[in-house]
Amino acid sequence: MASLISEFGYWVTSIAIISSVFCAGAWGQPSEKTSAFFIFGDSTVDPGNNNYINTIPENRADYKPYGQNGFFDHPTGRFCEGRIIVDFIAEYANLPLIPPFFQPSADFINGVNFASGGAGILSETNQGLVIDLQTQLKNFEEVQKSLTEKLGDEEAKELMSEAVYFISIGSNDYMGGYLGSPKMRELYHPEAYVGMVIGNLTQAIQVLYEKGGRKFGFLSLSPLGCLPALRALNPKASEGGCLEEACALALAHNNALSAVLRSLEHTMKGFMYSKSNFYNWLNDRINNPSKYDFKDGVNACCGAGPYGGVFSCGGTKKVTEYQLCENPHEYIWWDSFHPTERIHEQFAKALWDGPPFSVGPYNLQELFWSKEKKRMTIADIVDDPDNPIAG
Ligand SMILES: *[C@@H]1O[C@H](CO)[C@@H](O)[C@H](O)[C@H]1NC(C)=O
Repeated sequence: MASLISEFGYWVTSIAIISSVFCAGAWGQPSEKTSAFFIFGDSTVDPGNNNYINTIPENRADYKPYGQNGFFDHPTGRFCEGRIIVDFIAEYANLPLIPPFFQPSADFINGVNFASGGAGILSETNQGLVIDLQTQLKNFEEVQKSLTEKLGDEEAKELMSEAVYFISIGSNDYMGGYLGSPKMRELYHPEAYVGMVIGNLTQAIQVLYEKGGRKFGFLSLSPLGCLPALRALNPKASEGGCLEEACALALAHNNALSAVLRSLEHTMKGFMYSKSNFYNWLNDRINNPSKYDFKDGVNACCGAGPYGGVFSCGGTKKVTEYQLCENPHEYIWWDSFHPTERIHEQFAKALWDGPPFSVGPYNLQELFWSKEKKRMTIADIVDDPDNPIAG
């Protein structure tokens, strides 16, 4: 018996050694240390920051049936019945769940999530009710200071440059911020407005770059006009179409962002990014749900009125009545604005592994596992106009 046990012990040890050799070596993936993960954005990625601020129920999701699918044992503030895209990405990157910035005594060593439901790129968007992108960047600065105190200058710098910065924001600037704002519509042509939003997003990227960020992931905007809430606003709603004006703004934004990222890649040394075409990816599922094993690409699982487009899920808002579907897995839309966990999971997977679905130039896996090129090549030194030995 004793020898059996010790033999068993031997086997366990050797399996552990073999597997650790494979994990560390074969794939070039660091076995214990992966990149930290910093997240900025709106309700697409908010893990519950809005639970800690003064806001309206529309910007919160800390009540039932949010979180009902049982992964978390209570509503967390995520705008979903379960996990959201950044939870899956953290899992694929071997990280624990990334805590909200406001979570008391959270450990920020693996990253922080600064996102806030309802937030926009412009500070005017839902002003006073959300943590806008500017403020999210200020909060990041605080974290950077405290990590520097904790780890020392050099290690903190390394953490910042190896980290992945994920940004998912902009929908609210176009929905409430523009389409829902007679004042903004009067002041700005759609093109000028998109330019202003993209201008501010570009500045945010530059701020993070100056603070040491090198690896960026972007979730582009979805076909906004096909969200149940906006589909219900389509004057031709009975024909079942999406709200075209909203889709056009999302497309214009995505195209402008692609152009900006291509140019930043040339002007900011070491800048690496992953951008996806969430628009086409989701549109394909909305139009062909059965192809992807969904039953319904149009209606919200939780909500009221046409398409479940009345944002009443949970009964805490102005309209208190709502219907709840039996199986969210069959739906693309969880509530009037937000997709189901299955969509979050499938898209996280696409971002992690992509291509084939227009993810590039890097996919997230490559960003998480890549090491920044530390030493400059001869070509860099010769090209660098600040270098005294350069021509
Ligand atoms: C950023 O947005 C503000 C409005 O919030 C606007 O006045 C400003 O021009 C924008 N900045 C850029 C660089 O586009």
